[in-house]
Amino acid sequence: MSIVLDTAQRVFTLNTKNSTYQMKADEHQVLLHTYYGARTDSSDKSYLCYPVDRGFSGNPHPVGKELRTYSLDVLPQEYSCFGTGDYRTTALRVCNGDGSRAAQLTYREYELRPGKYGIPGLPAVYGEEAEARTLAVRLEDKASGLEAELVYGVLEELDVITRAVKLTNRGQKPLVLEKAASLNLDWQYGDFQWITFYGRHAGEQNMQRTGLHHGIQSIGSVRGASSHQYNPFVMLCEPGCGEGSGDCYGFSFLYSGEFLAEVEQDQFCQTRFVCGIHPDNFSWKLEPGESLWLPEVAMAYSGQGTGGVSRIFHRTLREHVCRGVWKNRRRPVLVNNWEATYFDFTADRLVEIAREAADLGIELFVMDDGWFGKRDDDNSGLGDWEANEEKLGCTLAELGERVRKEGLEFGIWLEPEGISEDSRLYRTHPDWAVEIPGRAPCLSRNQLVLDLSRTDVQDYLIREITRILAQSKAVYVKWDMNRSLCDKFSGALAGERQGEFAHRYVLGLYRVLEELGRAFPQVLFEGCSGGGGRFDAGMLYYTPQIWGSDNTDAIGRLPLQYGASFGYPVSATGAHVSAVPNHQTGRVTSLYTRGCVAMAGTFGYELDIAGLSGKEKEEIRRQIAVFKEQYQLIQRGDYYRLLAPGAGSCTAWAMVEGSGKEALVTAVYQQVQANGPLVCLKVPGLAAGADYRMELVGADDLDLPQPLPFGFGPGETLTGAALGQCGFILPPAREDYQAWQIRVRRI
Ligand code: GLA
Repeated sequence: MSIVLDTAQRVFTLNTKNSTYQMKADEHQVLLHTYYGARTDSSDKSYLCYPVDRGFSGNPHPVGKELRTYSLDVLPQEYSCFGTGDYRTTALRVCNGDGSRAAQLTYREYELRPGKYGIPGLPAVYGEEAEARTLAVRLEDKASGLEAELVYGVLEELDVITRAVKLTNRGQKPLVLEKAASLNLDWQYGDFQWITFYGRHAGEQNMQRTGLHHGIQSIGSVRGASSHQYNPFVMLCEPGCGEGSGDCYGFSFLYSGEFLAEVEQDQFCQTRFVCGIHPDNFSWKLEPGESLWLPEVAMAYSGQGTGGVSRIFHRTLREHVCRGVWKNRRRPVLVNNWEATYFDFTADRLVEIAREAADLGIELFVMDDGWFGKRDDDNSGLGDWEANEEKLGCTLAELGERVRKEGLEFGIWLEPEGISEDSRLYRTHPDWAVEIPGRAPCLSRNQLVLDLSRTDVQDYLIREITRILAQSKAVYVKWDMNRSLCDKFSGALAGERQGEFAHRYVLGLYRVLEELGRAFPQVLFEGCSGGGGRFDAGMLYYTPQIWGSDNTDAIGRLPLQYGASFGYPVSATGAHVSAVPNHQTGRVTSLYTRGCVAMAGTFGYELDIAGLSGKEKEEIRRQIAVFKEQYQLIQRGDYYRLLAPGAGSCTAWAMVEGSGKEALVTAVYQQVQANGPLVCLKVPGLAAGADYRMELVGADDLDLPQPLPFGFGPGETLTGAALGQCGFILPPAREDYQAWQIRVRRI
């Protein structure tokens, strides 16, 4: 049973295939968190809360008169509140009608619902009624009338539990929420490390693993979007946890705006994890009767280490977050003209690229920035979404038609949220840009941002994009967003509600994406924010893939695709083969290596195909054929990280078909070494008793080391058990950045 209720003891046990999560409303009506970890029985685990009289940890009235061992400061709770005796970082801080900052939530009732709850206007994990159940637990702050409905979605087979919160003011006076996190998770003991992903533009999602220390550690964003700088996916694990074993928890915040993820180790070495909307610059007024839904956190536990948790999230995001026709359909191999032409192109030039691309098996041509308004560089024109016919030499509709005539579908770049001061749109609607009256706004890439918290702006965008899609018949939109927000203010909000701006912006964005997605179900939307500046599970609900990074260097991509793989499936990360020397780093890598790395994402090209040699075109043709043939395995197979970038001479990963029929192993050497050490790779997930043959993909054109290690020669086979437990020897590198793509097939 996925949800087990002990109504007499008021114990709620949530079970997934391999995990159990438990809470209990105790005799003082506090909703305690009693357990989260490996699957166990549904007996009451509150015996683990050992009562001790802790000095300077106060006791709530009237319990405290009798019981000095009962303190909110030390009890593990489901939703902690500021101001009433819990001195750790808390999930909820409310300013009451009288100006006090205090809340104390007590249990009122629960409700079981079939299926998985949804959240109006916000992304959420979804599931069939047979796959999921929902538990709602209602808490109340008696003094103010604030109600907190904690909702839990249990997807047993998927191994995931979700949690969201709906706050309602059932009192008589307005309340102001100053901090309203979505998740609070407490452990009274245990030693943890936490894994986060930091970065920068063109260098996103670097994995960082550190121990906890006394105090609060946090990551987050106050940039309007989830940000390049920190990703809203984090893990907590035991110190010995590895890729394949050890206790590990993962948390994915389904939200694309400002977030805060905090972990605190307190005076008693207890650990608290809190995750939600960033409280800086957030406040939300709840008039009597009003409600606010807080975004969802999806969580998973695995005893199979970080790899186990990652594979749960890969499946969850692929099957239960991404929606629409592109969820399971093979995504087209595309060519994008950005790094081929930047702003300097005409329709003829684009059609030439499309013609060459069609010949190689590419299926979609994407016209990037520079096709509209006055936009020959990035200083002007954003907001004027009329094609620059003088520059192109034809209309948008004609260009779309010409590309289709070459046998490719047509796709288009938009940056709907951007607005240049030098644009007709800004001159007509200066009040639509995010600015604080009386202050000169901060520019970034010489642009401002449209106020998506406004309904009129949202409606305008829906109309404009509908027109562009109808005119161009584009089947793909690259939805870009090229700056961080600041100067947060909306002319449409009252002064006391300005703290709602950042969240309302995200709600506005979601509304626009939802309506366009519904109106154009066949269109593939790719998210982008200067690469991975808004790379999160919330966006994936609307755009099933996101451009991973503006860094297209195959070697530069290794750490960021490695980092992204912890919380996101291969099918989420946009990755392209680009020209050498690489435009970001100047590095020269082989076309083969670039193909191998881009194939660990949604595969495409971003270079001037017309300028390539015949041999290079042949290699591209080969890569595309491999990608199409191996698509299911690459995009939907079980993903294993084998070697981390930077750890040795080589980075490696494997995609393994669920039944162990086949695998695709990719290894990229960062460096060639004279007389270097051997690299041995183990391939998990194969059938132990079966025999496997290994083959170097594209070997005909590669300069192979001789002799090849055992397993690669004609007739040589290895068992699944040998490959899984002992591994195979990777052919050594012949040059820097050498990659090997290895097909492992059961015979
Ligand atoms: C962003 C994107 C790039 C490209 C440019 C165009 O940086 O990430 O891929 O589209 O904008 O201005």
